[in-house]
Amino acid sequence: MNTIDLLLQHRSIRKYKAQSIEKEKLNRILEAGVRGSNTGNMQIYSIVVTQDAERKKELAKHHFGQKMVVDAGAVVTVCVDINRYHKWCMLRNAGTAYDNFLWFATGVVDATIVTQNICVAAEAEGLGFCYLGTVLYNAPEIANFLELPKGVVPVTTITVGYPDEMPELTERLPLEGVVHYERYNDYSDSDINRIFEEKENLPFSKEMVKVNNTENLAQIFTQIRYKKADNVMMSKKLLNFLHESCFMNND
Ligand SMILES: Cc1cc2nc3c(=O)[nH]c(=O)nc-3n(C[C@H](O)[C@H](O)[C@H](O)COP(=O)(O)O)c2cc1C
Repeated sequence: MNTIDLLLQHRSIRKYKAQSIEKEKLNRILEAGVRGSNTGNMQIYSIVVTQDAERKKELAKHHFGQKMVVDAGAVVTVCVDINRYHKWCMLRNAGTAYDNFLWFATGVVDATIVTQNICVAAEAEGLGFCYLGTVLYNAPEIANFLELPKGVVPVTTITVGYPDEMPELTERLPLEGVVHYERYNDYSDSDINRIFEEKENLPFSKEMVKVNNTENLAQIFTQIRYKKADNVMMSKKLLNFLHESCFMNND
């Protein structure tokens, strides 16, 4: 399958066969991951692969018990990592320059590129994957579990394995709703109505609104799926962790 056809077929896979991923195949997709562009070619990330059944069970607890963590052939956690670079710079009498927020943000971009490369490579090899946003909610606990030192913060996690389902493709907003040419064209109310119309009218969306007794789909997001109080609480937790991990030395 050519690359664009592969990308257009993407769906997240949450059910996996009890079939382990061959070591060579795993290495191949990890190689494809690290081939991605990265800032200054410094590779300020580390990848932690969890495959042991007992470890996956434990790790699942930090991902809100999502069952796919236990069932997947591999759980891949990608971390921003200035620890390794810092050690190299210190050994070479170069001092340190990366213990600040800019390099956390930079590392998040690099870690995301690696992760998505792994994802595309996994699909090309007949595997499926699903991202786990819970890694950011429980970054301190996951860092502790993976024995990450200071300067290493987990930012993306994916489950990877042989698919045991073929879900429908999920919808996307129309291209004209997300792409701007030359300059940002801010949205009028009627633009918003038009852009979100298809999403709001999906049978699944309507069912969610009905079952949860909300007025509309937007309220499903703000009142049920990603609530402000939770977001604020988890933001504070993450910021504290960044302080402890030395990414907030901005003087
Ligand atoms: C950063 C990120 C975090 C996500 N976290 C979760 C998660 O914790 N659990 C889950 O079931 N899906 C998770 N997903 C998958 C999304 O729900 C999914 O990509 C989206 O609904 C679109 O569906 P598709 O990937 O099948 O096209 C996450 C995706 C991303 C990119």
